[in-house]
Amino acid sequence: MKKKFKAISTKALVLTFGIGTLASCVSDPDSPGLEFMPDMYRSPAIETYVDYGWVKETPNVDAMMTQSAKHPPVNTIPYMGKVEDLEFYLPYHRQVTSFAPITHGLQAKHGWNISEEPAGDYFKSAEDKNPIELTEENQKAIFNQGKKLFGINCAHCHGEKGNGKGPMVESGAYLGVPDFANLTELADGQMFYSIYYGKGMMGAHAPLLKNKEIWTVVHYINKLQSEDYGVGSATEGVVSDSTNVEAAEQ
Ligand code: HEC
Repeated sequence: MKKKFKAISTKALVLTFGIGTLASCVSDPDSPGLEFMPDMYRSPAIETYVDYGWVKETPNVDAMMTQSAKHPPVNTIPYMGKVEDLEFYLPYHRQVTSFAPITHGLQAKHGWNISEEPAGDYFKSAEDKNPIELTEENQKAIFNQGKKLFGINCAHCHGEKGNGKGPMVESGAYLGVPDFANLTELADGQMFYSIYYGKGMMGAHAPLLKNKEIWTVVHYINKLQSEDYGVGSATEGVVSDSTNVEAAEQ
């Protein structure tokens, strides 16, 4: 009796495995055969901008009516440059003055780093060095790029030569634009700070320029302040015609 039972159970086992194995076999070599949990074989595709109102054939109206594309979280690092420029995309560590939300519209909820101090980190920023190092080879291209950026973003207030007499000032629309010749003591880091966050009647340029571009303009302001600024034989004039500016960028 015991022996018979054993024989039956062995047969049953072989049969179960046999059927199981055969049932999971299919002629298509790319198919996994019988799927125990299909979700494990095929993960649901998550695609941006596709509404997920349908969950398991059931419409979910709430999900359908909710915006799926969200703003990136605060302090997300935008990155669309070269790998060697990655450091320029890191968040600026200096805090802006406590009154910047009122004077310059920089709100903490939008990710601006607001200080509790009225002076913010303005004076501390004097310690920051320009991360773009000038060399004999690269300086001409940097000054030309700086000149171009300055012409587009700053000259209408600061004037082509940085004397504070741009067309906006001449027209009487703006007052209090300094002559860079009077700011020779201003540290590079403070220039960056003021351009980035804005200062007085000058708006914040962080939303307009990449950090690398601001540091490039800082080099150019130094060049405006002193023709001798630069490495070695830096006294050659800055190229003024646009073809050369474009060539220098490459
Ligand atoms: C709308 C006019 C305007 C524009 C555009 C403008 N500035 Fe200014 N800028 C000012 C005014 C006004 C001040 C004086 C701010 C103060 O000291 O209250 C100033 C001050 C500065 C200072 C001195 C900051 C300091 O810490 O004392 C620098 C450097 C500077 N600007 C650079 C730039 C650069 C570079 C650009 C272009 C990217 C630019 N500015 C665009 C109006 C402007």
